[in-house]
Amino acid sequence: MCGIVGCAGPEPVLPILLEGLTRLEYRGYDSAGIALQTGSAVWRRRRPGKLAELVAVVDDAPEATTGIGHTRWATHGGPSESNAHPHTDCTGRVAVVHNGIIENYLALAAGLGPSHERTSQTDTEVLAHLVEDELAGGSSLADAVRACLARVEGSFAIAAVNAGEPGLIVAARRGSPLIAGRTETSGLVASDIPAILGQTREVYVLDDDQVVEVRPGSLRVTTLAGEEVTPVRRRVDWDLEAAEKGGYEDFMLKEIHEQPQAVAETLRERLLPDGRLHLDATTLTEDQLRAVDKVFVVGCGTSYHAGLVAKYAIEHFARLPVEIDVASEFRYRDPVLDPNTLVVGVSQSGESLDTMEACRFAKSPTNKARLLVICNVVDSSMAREADAVLYTRAGPEVCVASTKTHLAQIAGLELLALYLAQLRGTLYPLEIHALVDTLRGLPTVIERALAHEDEYMEAGRRFVDVRDFFFLGRGVGFPVALEGALKLKEISYARAEAYPGGEMKHGPIALIEPGTVVVAVATRGRLHSKMLSNIQEMRARGATIVAVANEGDDETAAQADVVLPVPATHELFSPAVDVVALQLFAYAIAKARGCDVDQPRNLAKTVTVE
Ligand code: F6R
Repeated sequence: MCGIVGCAGPEPVLPILLEGLTRLEYRGYDSAGIALQTGSAVWRRRRPGKLAELVAVVDDAPEATTGIGHTRWATHGGPSESNAHPHTDCTGRVAVVHNGIIENYLALAAGLGPSHERTSQTDTEVLAHLVEDELAGGSSLADAVRACLARVEGSFAIAAVNAGEPGLIVAARRGSPLIAGRTETSGLVASDIPAILGQTREVYVLDDDQVVEVRPGSLRVTTLAGEEVTPVRRRVDWDLEAAEKGGYEDFMLKEIHEQPQAVAETLRERLLPDGRLHLDATTLTEDQLRAVDKVFVVGCGTSYHAGLVAKYAIEHFARLPVEIDVASEFRYRDPVLDPNTLVVGVSQSGESLDTMEACRFAKSPTNKARLLVICNVVDSSMAREADAVLYTRAGPEVCVASTKTHLAQIAGLELLALYLAQLRGTLYPLEIHALVDTLRGLPTVIERALAHEDEYMEAGRRFVDVRDFFFLGRGVGFPVALEGALKLKEISYARAEAYPGGEMKHGPIALIEPGTVVVAVATRGRLHSKMLSNIQEMRARGATIVAVANEGDDETAAQADVVLPVPATHELFSPAVDVVALQLFAYAIAKARGCDVDQPRNLAKTVTVE
């Protein structure tokens, strides 16, 4: 997803911008650009492709101390130089970078006078021309931005410079993330904290429809109407080291190995001695939670898969009906919501637009549902929207494909299920204590799974040339199959379909032929024997079976060509263990295929468009 960085200070700004853009690379992008404010104009360079392409063409950059930079993930218009940001106005004195989508850009463009020449296919460029018109009418850059954004529909985070106002960046947001930062001598703006962490730890989170004027050593925040606002200051206590690879070949491998800690941190000091769940923020009372008669879980991709696990856990432990929705679909059907409905938004970033909008829809005055958000980024948009927040404390996840935050989400959701069970009295306190103890032991069980890393990797390397995979699971093993297939697709570009084991005979089995690889999640649980029957059905048609099976389970191993051994735990917690084998299986295939596992093609870490 697009990334923004900007800095106004006393020092040469080019290296600061390039470092910031490097820190944003993990978000995924397909072009990059910068604009530097010089005395009378704006100097701009843009390149499609990786950041290195841009770095190769900035040798002749003028000395400048104020500038903005951008990594673009194409939405309107392909990834070309002309569509890359920053975009300029007709005079070349205004430059704008933008994340998000300006939905009414065609109407806004139609309203521009005939003198304006547009040079890109983007929705963004119209902003530069609108600002140009406002400046021509005598406005300052800040007034011009405020006036333009009042006319814009859609979601955005923007930053703009004007050659006529040296040492000033004006930035604003609605729906897309944006933070500002400050040192004694410089002002900074970025879409994400790592982009400016090399410069400052003092950050200010902006709210929707706020505009920040960034100058060397100072920030001024206003509403779109120009009223002064005091932004909330936050000190960031994690450092750049935490976002580095820490000796591993790539972030993905590092983050897979951080999973025991991510789960342990998420569980730490969560259950109070009286059995209450410690949430990071809540305005919900116990009575309100006790009155909940239905739960909806919404999320996208990997977060959706964690939500599926929660459905099994909440229904089983708390005996509450749970519906689970892909967030992008939720608000377009007519879900029946009311104040006794709990909507749980699950998101690593807390910024995915689809999930964010699903959460807003749930909380809207018409629906009035209670909103609990589980996310990994403190003060994210979703966290600020929620009635209650449970942060997964997995630390920054840099690899585009989620791993450690997925396990942390599962841990957080299991806790929620047990808390609801305690509130509703569906389990005896002793049962809850025993389950919580098992949950607390999960990091150790995950460590034991990681000890099988070599076996998982070796198994993966056997299938480097296979094009099509099927992943099967039953019960709580089905979300594991879905997540295993998603990981393989994302990072190795193999085709992988996931099905509940019992569903194959209703159609997909037609695709099974000698040599088809079927990865079966076959750890012990209520449906184990049924899963073994499903494996038999695949074997009978010549499939090669890779089985995720419990350590020492010879019965299952006897049905498989390759075994990925995992330690056993409570069935409903087992997804957090079993998926580790599939993450490393996918990783090995992707590496052997020479793929960039940290930044797979076409993917973005945080998807802030609909
Ligand atoms: C998969 C992956 C994506 C995200 C999805 C939701 O590895 O990372 O499927 O899970 O885009 O993102 P968040 O969790 O940030 O809402």
